[in-house]
Amino acid sequence: MKVALLGAAGGIGQALALLLTTRLPQDGELSLYDIAPVTAGIAVDLSHIPSPVKVRGFCGPDASPALLGADIVLIVAGVARKPGMDRADLFNVNAGIVRQLVGQVAVCAPEALIGIVTNPVNTLVAIAAGVLAQAGVYQPQKLFGITTLDVIRANSYVAAMKGLRPDQIEVPVVGGHSGVTILPLLSQVPGITFSDEEVNLLTRRIRNAGTEVVEAKAGAGSATLAMGYAAARFTLSLVRALQGQQGIIECAYVESESAFSRFFAQPLLLGPQGVSARRPLGILSDFEQQALQDMRAALNQDIALGDQFLQQ
Ligand code: LMR
Repeated sequence: MKVALLGAAGGIGQALALLLTTRLPQDGELSLYDIAPVTAGIAVDLSHIPSPVKVRGFCGPDASPALLGADIVLIVAGVARKPGMDRADLFNVNAGIVRQLVGQVAVCAPEALIGIVTNPVNTLVAIAAGVLAQAGVYQPQKLFGITTLDVIRANSYVAAMKGLRPDQIEVPVVGGHSGVTILPLLSQVPGITFSDEEVNLLTRRIRNAGTEVVEAKAGAGSATLAMGYAAARFTLSLVRALQGQQGIIECAYVESESAFSRFFAQPLLLGPQGVSARRPLGILSDFEQQALQDMRAALNQDIALGDQFLQQ
């Protein structure tokens, strides 16, 4: 089981690399790639952890050696927000990075499951799909925008509000990964009810959580540790699904089957080929139905931006 991590030298990359070194299966191989020369040192550092996972580091302009034979490719490379910026403000820099990396994935690991963490996720997944399609290797069920951070934040906030254990709560979060496109389905959390005021408060806070971190870090970047944790959780779910484990469900942003938008985050049943089924959203509250309609234009705009970028 080989996982290639592109952008391994950054804050998210290093947190994620640490978690995967300790949690990938016994026969696991973790291939770290970053343009920064420190990547080789990060691999040496991690190799001192008593784990059976083999860690190797690669740097320079070419990611190919890191990608060959990868079952899963994670893309976390790119710049992070500063206070006052929106995720969309990262587009100009990060779109080029993702286009270039996905181009190399298309050649070196065309069968791999691909998880995109780099922002703006709503747009960059559309770009990744386009690059893979141009190379003739796009398999929609294998491309994911990782939105697990929204889910773990929702779980933590609900637990804190209700005095419960966060590891026993699972809030489905659908739509996308920015602003109004982030929609926690609080009506679907088993055994917990919320007042209208609580729904408003939680939804606003979950949508604003990334900005909360950006402001608290005061110019030193955005979420890295919780993001690393979230991406590790999602990656380990992919690993279990690849190994044939049944019944694994995660929310992620993937090509959708509905006319609502071409890409959409929703609960997915994962299998050896990636998405084996898109789970229905179920019965939504009036608030959620309205929020879904309210996000539609923004989500489609984000996706269209990706298509425009590819046409340039
Ligand atoms: C997050 O949600 O924390 C990440 O998407 C980073 C960001 O810029 O908000």
